[in-house]
Amino acid sequence: MQVKQIKQIIENYIKDSIPAVPVLGKVVKVYETDGKANFNNCIYSADVQVLMLDEGGNFIDSEVIIPDVPILSIGIGNNRGIFFLPAVGSIVKVSFLYGSWAYPVIDGVLPYFSSIPEHKKDDLNVYVPNNKNEEIKNLWKGNYGKVELKSSQYNLTGNTIINGNLQVNGNIIASGQIADLSGNKGNLSDLRNTFNTHTHKHGNDTTTPPNQTVGA
Ligand SMILES: [Fe+2]
Repeated sequence: MQVKQIKQIIENYIKDSIPAVPVLGKVVKVYETDGKANFNNCIYSADVQVLMLDEGGNFIDSEVIIPDVPILSIGIGNNRGIFFLPAVGSIVKVSFLYGSWAYPVIDGVLPYFSSIPEHKKDDLNVYVPNNKNEEIKNLWKGNYGKVELKSSQYNLTGNTIINGNLQVNGNIIASGQIADLSGNKGNLSDLRNTFNTHTHKHGNDTTTPPNQTVGA
């Protein structure tokens, strides 16, 4: 009788001591701000429905939902970091820190059931959903051998300084003035006005302004 009890105690101890293994799960809800989890006071967390693995190697939905699982980032610093929140329905890997069921974390997202844009192996691709803002700070600080951008339209706000030659393979239209030589010799409007109104000395006479004018 005692032997049986001891065996039971040892079996329970072993069961409780087996480290929790990582599992796959399906994201059922994402908390984008102030997740309720108090583990490291995480900002992002998700409710994850655990997927069971059957003997045939198939993943099956379970009834178990782990609430508020913190989402690990691949890089976080003070006022910087990379954050990708998984979409509802995406498949994530849930690991358990220290092998403890009490500390689940999402440490990876599997590309199952997601549409992956075409990309080359070594390219850095950043995609955001349509109509969402891509906000990347300080991306352009640095030295680049060559930067190629392709878009149907670029909108720049603020003064733009180019320390080099500017080649435009198209037209230039300015709402304001165009001036060369640092603007010390007048601008295109000055040139037009002078041309349209200029006269010549012709003997003792002065000619009229030209019959042809520019932009008048
Ligand atoms: Fe003239």
